[in-house]
Amino acid sequence: MSLAKINALIEHGEKVAMLTCYDATFAKLSEAAGLDMLLVGDSLGMVLQGAENTLNVSIEDMEYHTKSVAAGTTVCSIMTDMPAGSYEHNKETALLNAKKLIAAGADIVKIEGGGEMVNTAQYLIEHGIPVCAHLGFTPQSVIQLGGYRIQGKTDESAQKILQDAIAMDKVGVHFVLLEMVPAILAKTITESIKSPTIGIGAGSDCDGQVLVIQDLLGIYTGPASKNPEAFKSPRFAKNFLAENTSIQSAVQAYVKAVKNKSFPGEEHSY
Ligand code: KIV
Repeated sequence: MSLAKINALIEHGEKVAMLTCYDATFAKLSEAAGLDMLLVGDSLGMVLQGAENTLNVSIEDMEYHTKSVAAGTTVCSIMTDMPAGSYEHNKETALLNAKKLIAAGADIVKIEGGGEMVNTAQYLIEHGIPVCAHLGFTPQSVIQLGGYRIQGKTDESAQKILQDAIAMDKVGVHFVLLEMVPAILAKTITESIKSPTIGIGAGSDCDGQVLVIQDLLGIYTGPASKNPEAFKSPRFAKNFLAENTSIQSAVQAYVKAVKNKSFPGEEHSY
């Protein structure tokens, strides 16, 4: 599934189904279940390494897991996160690190934030690296944002996210990923830009959906050091394993629900 084929799916009105993936076994299983794209997310810092946030994930971690996912994939496109510290400080370093992820097997890299990051995205694109812009709640800025909070609730912050999406679209990003924003804002952005949108906690009008696989399986219970009883799953997550008898059928059910537009429902949106 090349990025061009993903675009063709979207042009035919089909929603893109994407999950995070960090290893070859889950890559094979996810591909067999019909997913279009796999995200090697820096969420691996939380769901694999047990940390409180994604801030300490390294470029080497991302290369290792991208290689593992690529080993298990023949059809799905692979998107890999550029981890915190690997792209924000200067464009040349960003390009060097993006090339490492592409060499490891990524088809496209994802960077977080608008504003200054528009120039970085443009620089990567000019050097032949496909880019996804991650806007709204950006996990690498969790401290600055004051925690895991919905973004774009005020007119001013909604405008800022919309303008960032338009600017990213203009420099030619391949996708805009929107996390934890009001569904109405995600709809406006989707209708305002050419690049397809992928949502997580961004309502049902995005062109595609992504979830962290541990959330889809209902097995993530917070940082390793914290009491699992205290963990509250985010509103946008749905445990598909609760209604299915195997991991394979849970992933298939997710693909079906994204494609037939029954997921996310209003109860998963803001
Ligand atoms: O790292 C990740 O898994 C992500 C998703 C939350 C979209 O960026």
